Amino acid sequence: MPKLKILPMNIEVDVEENTVLADAIKAVIPEFPTPCGGLGFCGRCRVRVIVDGLSEPSGNERVLLGGSRFRLSCQAKVIGDTVVEILKPHEEHKITVSGIEPTIEFRDPIIRAIEVRLNGVFEAPLSKVLLEEAGGTIHVDGAVLKLANVKSKNVRVLVDWSGRIIGLRENRSRNLGLAVDLGTTKIAGYLVDLETGESLGESYVINPQIDFGDDVVTRIMRALEPKGLIELRERAIAGIESVALKTCSREGLNPKDIVASVIVGNNVMTNILLGLPVETLAKHPYQPILASPVLLRGKTVGFNLLENTLIYMPPGVAGFVGSDAVADIVLVWKLGLNGKILILDVGTNTEIVLIEDWRRILVTSAPAGPAVEGAHISIGARVVDRAFRKARVSSRGEIILEPSIENPVGLTGSALISLLACLLEKNYIDEGGRIVEGFDVDSTGLKRITVYRSRDGETLSLTQLDVRELQKAKAAIAAGWRTILEKAGTNALDYVVVAGSFGSSINVEHAIRIGLLPDVGRDKVIVVGNAAGIGAKAIMLNGECRRVGEEVSRKAFYLNLAELGEWEKTWVQSLFLRPIKIS
Ligand code: FES
Repeated sequence: MPKLKILPMNIEVDVEENTVLADAIKAVIPEFPTPCGGLGFCGRCRVRVIVDGLSEPSGNERVLLGGSRFRLSCQAKVIGDTVVEILKPHEEHKITVSGIEPTIEFRDPIIRAIEVRLNGVFEAPLSKVLLEEAGGTIHVDGAVLKLANVKSKNVRVLVDWSGRIIGLRENRSRNLGLAVDLGTTKIAGYLVDLETGESLGESYVINPQIDFGDDVVTRIMRALEPKGLIELRERAIAGIESVALKTCSREGLNPKDIVASVIVGNNVMTNILLGLPVETLAKHPYQPILASPVLLRGKTVGFNLLENTLIYMPPGVAGFVGSDAVADIVLVWKLGLNGKILILDVGTNTEIVLIEDWRRILVTSAPAGPAVEGAHISIGARVVDRAFRKARVSSRGEIILEPSIENPVGLTGSALISLLACLLEKNYIDEGGRIVEGFDVDSTGLKRITVYRSRDGETLSLTQLDVRELQKAKAAIAAGWRTILEKAGTNALDYVVVAGSFGSSINVEHAIRIGLLPDVGRDKVIVVGNAAGIGAKAIMLNGECRRVGEEVSRKAFYLNLAELGEWEKTWVQSLFLRPIKIS
């Protein structure tokens, strides 16, 4: 067994080979911080390596630590005798629990507040006041605002990035921004201070539209029913306002102080939010009515709580590839990645992007379906409370589900992906997905493998039908990236970026083992978490990111998988649970 020495405490322990370093440290120092839950985003678990007996660095370590003597202990595994030193929290990257956050310069934000001293002029052509007070730099097109109700003489005028006046604020009030990723399953919100650029908090709610169906296709079908579009739109509005409320109340802030919001999502979600018909997304050539940028007042969109908020929705690309994929690309650009980059935003609708040296960008989307998130699987669990999130084979050859919980309800989608890899390793299933060993047969003749048994005898079993559902979802994603690589004539990748809240919890080795991710080596795979939400935040805080987003949407070339005959053939080939080598 390898020995692990932890400095400066000078603690020495024996650890099982291939133990994750953070787990080994936590076993003896329980307070050791892992705020992002070991997803490789926050950088708080880093240690300095004195004697290196660790596995090769992961892609996240390359991006966050850049080949230094530091390692992220949640990513490194102990494979030989090792000495590490625990450090104080570092400052290079902001702490985020939902994704990698590059340094986003607070420059040319979506809205800025200009202080104006009115000097007793309470009713005046604002253009004149502004031009005097702000050195003639603000263009107001001769707007006249009635200022009689403003009690304070010192007010702040909110102007958007093009210099248009958005509103007036009393000096005491805060100016907050909310970046929103309007996902088919989840709505995530990121709160920022629009006067300093500081991140204030984040949270999510389940999209209330989920009662009408799990994926974009069922939402479109609902939208085509009488009053369906109105109901879906109301739910999108309610979901966004509840994430605004939740994020603000956690931080003790007033949601009425949210003066601007950047909202991204796939084209079905964003078109529904704007109340636009989605018929055109239901039939060839599957184009949204609107794919250009939108700048509106909250009231015009239909918001109540956010009625005075300036809403900016960046443009999407085409088909089901919307502004969420554009925000993903903005984040990858901000991380400074170059070369051939494949981005997979894994979810029920998986967006796939291939960037070739930033000269050419190809995009498509693959209908993975809800199985990737644990839905429609007999032991799947969509919500992570009381669900197993990981699966592995121990050194004694047992399948271990983690974390240890009482009365588990099932396994998350990422745990199910890992479970497939474990069942392959144990030879319980073959590469065709057939259950061949270690199974029981139930009264219907269905094979099922028991993967968990509680002390009280409660069991969780994966059936042959479950394996088939997971295979189909995995094949849709793999066929998507294989097709896009083939169309581009590319068989080499510098990075594979895995985005999306579901994607963030995937075990990279297991996903490569079953052919969900291309087999490029772990050091080329970067798990960025909710890139769309963090990209939306970058678009809010930084004018260059906003311009890059709009340029990407014009430049990206959309491939419609449904129109490519080879796609179905590739899908069938991708059903096999085996690695797919890409150099
Ligand atoms: Fe390791 Fe967050 S716990 S990066």
